[in-house]
Amino acid sequence: MRRLSRALALLVLLLAPSAFAQAVLTGADMRPAQSLDGAWHWSVDPYRDGKAGFHGGMPGESSRRWSDIIQADALEQNPRARYEFDMQRSPVTHLPGSWIGHAAEMRYYQGLVWYQRTFDARKPAAGTRMFLRFGAADYTTDVYLNGKSVGSHKGGFTPFVFDVTELLRDGSNQITISVDSARTDDDVPPPVTDWETYGGITRSVTLVTVPETFVDDAWVRLGRDGRIHADVRLYGHQAQNRDLAVRIPALGLTLSGKTDSSGSWTSSAPAPGMLKRWSPEVPTLYDVRIESGTDLLQDRIGFRTIETRGTQILLNGKPVFLRGISMHEEELGKDPVRAITPAAARALLTEIKQGLNGNFVRLAHYPHSEVMTRMADELGLIVWSEVPVYWRVNWNNPATLASARQQLRENIVRDRNRASIALWSVANETPIGDARNAFLRTLIADVRAIDDSRLVTAALLSKREGKVMRIDDPLVADLDVMAINTYNGWYSQDPLAELPSFEWRSPANKPLIFSEFGADAQAGYNDAAADPHKFSEEFQAEYYRQTLAMAAKVPSLAGLSPWLLKDFRSPRRQHPVFQQGWNRKGLISETGARKQAFFVLAEEYRKRAGH
Ligand code: GCU
Repeated sequence: MRRLSRALALLVLLLAPSAFAQAVLTGADMRPAQSLDGAWHWSVDPYRDGKAGFHGGMPGESSRRWSDIIQADALEQNPRARYEFDMQRSPVTHLPGSWIGHAAEMRYYQGLVWYQRTFDARKPAAGTRMFLRFGAADYTTDVYLNGKSVGSHKGGFTPFVFDVTELLRDGSNQITISVDSARTDDDVPPPVTDWETYGGITRSVTLVTVPETFVDDAWVRLGRDGRIHADVRLYGHQAQNRDLAVRIPALGLTLSGKTDSSGSWTSSAPAPGMLKRWSPEVPTLYDVRIESGTDLLQDRIGFRTIETRGTQILLNGKPVFLRGISMHEEELGKDPVRAITPAAARALLTEIKQGLNGNFVRLAHYPHSEVMTRMADELGLIVWSEVPVYWRVNWNNPATLASARQQLRENIVRDRNRASIALWSVANETPIGDARNAFLRTLIADVRAIDDSRLVTAALLSKREGKVMRIDDPLVADLDVMAINTYNGWYSQDPLAELPSFEWRSPANKPLIFSEFGADAQAGYNDAAADPHKFSEEFQAEYYRQTLAMAAKVPSLAGLSPWLLKDFRSPRRQHPVFQQGWNRKGLISETGARKQAFFVLAEEYRKRAGH
């Protein structure tokens, strides 16, 4: 009996290299890797024939896009074979980037698309593992390698990895991916959002080689206790009781130790006096090395603290006013495909930092590319990061909650080494109710469990009574920072001159951010009338002057992230003259033309920055 149980235990150990959790490969974008970006074949599958036969069940051979065949060869061998696809002769596109940019007819396609390419690799050497890593794909992704299913992922904005060590072969390998952009009312976000669904593989695909046992997750930060903390988790057969070290050479600091029986380790040490804390003014980043066995994970990390005191937000112990703006993940240009390169990220964030004299950006309404958050680290912008728990979420469905929790975890684990991120937001404009409160309180508890070093917030709505704006969302009690979206003067017909007379009442002694306010303006549409029409630049500029005057009277105000930096695609915005499928609340047009309101906000922030 004893021999059997030992064999069973060994089997479990062998089968589940990490009995702990799915690998995450934190910081994998900093590891040496083989890029699979570039030319891919693509093929639409609107009725999902590649997923199910005409009576359901497995699709027939004629529809299996992932089959490990070269069709020309297969037909050579069997002229009577029949295929109703041919991935090798389908059109070619460049990835990453949403399919809406692949061809004119794809602009409004939502559904299933197949991608395929081949790449040369070698079978992983003994003692190594190879992972396929996706920066993100929107919305449901299935991956096949050399004809075998590798795994699936749901969620459009967070990274995911698959261990393909056993599936790679020497020489040419064939990878096939299906991405389905369709969402149901049970998904996060649900189908109706005020932004375009950029279906497809929108972030990089890489092949990452790591030692059999490697540094899977590492979190290194400055605690409010003045100590540098490190939490590291190894993945692999030798993850348990293994030596490791975290080094910050420029500080002459090394934390070292041994993992526990679960492969995890935590430690801390007083921060050296020479530490230069990260701030928007001095965004200092340090090279950090996490070493274990033959594995080295390197990252560039800033060290700072963020907390609240009464109605103030403190950065490194000092009150900071967040001079910000919101933005979607779209590169500048008239046909964005949500391909955020470092240059694209720099162009957008520089408009905030240099153009607007800003120090803050709300990356709405979902986790943006790691390229964007790393750029915020580098340029010195404080970041609000959020998950797409947006509007009409199905609060009563456990699977919906599970999806929101998964995306929240994937976002925080990916980015909690980013000094720029100060706020995790769990929701945007969600209707108050018991089920919603419970759902969001679960997410808030998750944030606090995964990352106790940052602030939790959510973009809420307020109640209007005449000219009194009341913040009475029960969720306020659970948040560190209250955030309110308010649009008096745009989504109401209040004369703009009356906006400064509005009064704000909030029950809590907490910092308040106006996380949204804004007005549409079509760049170049001018109306010199004393009472200019909506959608004119003059209206938008006057709206900003008056709303900022209103905001200046709110004593608990700790920050602003008006809606928003750049016009963005939204299928809900179809005015044929002013919108054409774009939400025009940008302070710059989609091609970067600055509107009059841009200069109103820039002046406000210049004054608030004391320049
Ligand atoms: C809402 C919402 C945004 C939307 C904006 C608008 O507050 O949060 O996603 O784009 O208002 O109406 O333009």
